[in-house]
Amino acid sequence: MGLSLRTQVGIVGAGPAGLLLSHLLHRQGIDSIVVEARSRQYVEDRVRAGVLEQGTADLMIETGVGARLRREGLIHHGVMFRFAGHTHRFDFKALANGRAIFVYPQNKVVADLFDARAAAGGEVIVEAEDVSVHDFASAGTAAKPRIRFRNAGDAQEIECDFIAGCDGFHGVCRPSIPAGALTVFDRVYPFGWLGILAEAPPSSEELIYAYHERGFALLSMRTPQISRLYIQCKPDEDINEWPDERIWKELQLRLASSDPKWKLTEGKVLQKGVTGMRSFVVEPMQYGKLFLAGDAAHIVPPTGAKGLNLAASDVLVLSKALKDFYASGRRDLLDRYSQTCLRRIWKAQRFSWWMTSMLHLFDTDNAFDRRRQLAELDYVTSSRAAQQTLAENYVGLPME
Ligand code: PHB
Repeated sequence: MGLSLRTQVGIVGAGPAGLLLSHLLHRQGIDSIVVEARSRQYVEDRVRAGVLEQGTADLMIETGVGARLRREGLIHHGVMFRFAGHTHRFDFKALANGRAIFVYPQNKVVADLFDARAAAGGEVIVEAEDVSVHDFASAGTAAKPRIRFRNAGDAQEIECDFIAGCDGFHGVCRPSIPAGALTVFDRVYPFGWLGILAEAPPSSEELIYAYHERGFALLSMRTPQISRLYIQCKPDEDINEWPDERIWKELQLRLASSDPKWKLTEGKVLQKGVTGMRSFVVEPMQYGKLFLAGDAAHIVPPTGAKGLNLAASDVLVLSKALKDFYASGRRDLLDRYSQTCLRRIWKAQRFSWWMTSMLHLFDTDNAFDRRRQLAELDYVTSSRAAQQTLAENYVGLPME
C-alpha cells in the first residue's frame, strides 16, 4: 500500500454535492478530502442543470461562495407555460412570497466551489483511478471506513470516520452497499430530451415550458448571450439524425406563439445531446458509515429543475448532522439523515413527475388524455390555488 491519508469525512465525487459538502464541513471546522475520478476540466465542462432555487442560492451566498452568482446569476421572478398558442406567466412575486429562482449553470457552481476549496487549502484529488469504498458496514464500531484509489498509478488510501457517496447515479458508492439493504423506487419515461446550447440571445426573459401536439419543448438560457433549448424526443434518439436545421425547425413549431411579435431567435449550435428521463430513489440513503447524497441516491426528470437543488439540500442536512456528531457525540441527526432528506426528496419527486406528466406526450396516451392534459394546463394556469401550488414547488420547498 502506498500513501495513506486520514480525514474526518471522505467524500467520493467532486460534483456539486461533494464539493458543497466539503465546503460546508470546512466552515464547521470538519476536515474532509474529496476524491474524484474525472479531471476538474471534465467536471466543469459538462453541460448540466441551470436553475437554482432561492434556498440553494441563499445557501451559496450565506456560506461565502455566492459572489459570482450575485454578479452573473439571472434572477427570475416568474416562469411561463405556453400551450394552445397562449402564454401564461406564473408570477412568483404574487404567488410565492417574493421567492425567486436563479439561472446559473451547474458548471459555474462547481467552478466556484473548486475555487473556494482551493483557497481554503481543501484537498480535492482529481483523476483518481479505481476508486472503491471499504469497511463502512457498521455504524457503531470503531472500525474505520476507507476509500482506496490510485493516484498517478500509486495506490492510496484515505481512512476516515464517515464516507459521503456524492458520486452520482453511475458512481461506485451505491453499488458498494450489499444488495438487499436498499429498496429502489423508479420509473423510466418513454421519452428523452434533446438539448442544445446555442449562441443566441434568449428569446424570452423567462423560461418557457411549452406543451405542443408535436411534443414538449423548453426555452431556457445560460447567459444573456446563450440560449439553452430542449425538445422531447425518443429515449434512444440518434443525435446524428438531428442536424441543426432540423432542431431549429422543431423548436420553431413547438415554441410558436399566438403573439405575432414574438419570435425565436436562432444561432450557432455550440453543443447538443440527448438525455434519458427517469425518476429514481433508493431507501435508505445510509448504510453504516456511508451516506449517499445527490444523484447517487435519487434522480428526477429535469422538468421541475430540481436535481441540483436536491443535492444541495441533502448535503446541508448531512453537514448539520456531522456538525452535531463532532460537537456532542450525538448520533441522532445522523441516524435520521435519510428520513429527513427523503421527506423533501419525495415531494420534489412528486412535483417533477407531475410537471413531466402534464407537459409531455406519452405514446400510450389517446385523444382523451390529450384533452385531460389541456384541461389540467388550463386549470393550473387559471386557478389561483393551483398556480400557487406550482409556484411554491418551483421556487423550492423549505430546505428542512
Ligand atoms: C436548463 O436550463 O437546463 C433547464 C431549465 C429548466 C428545466 C430543466 C433544464 O426544467
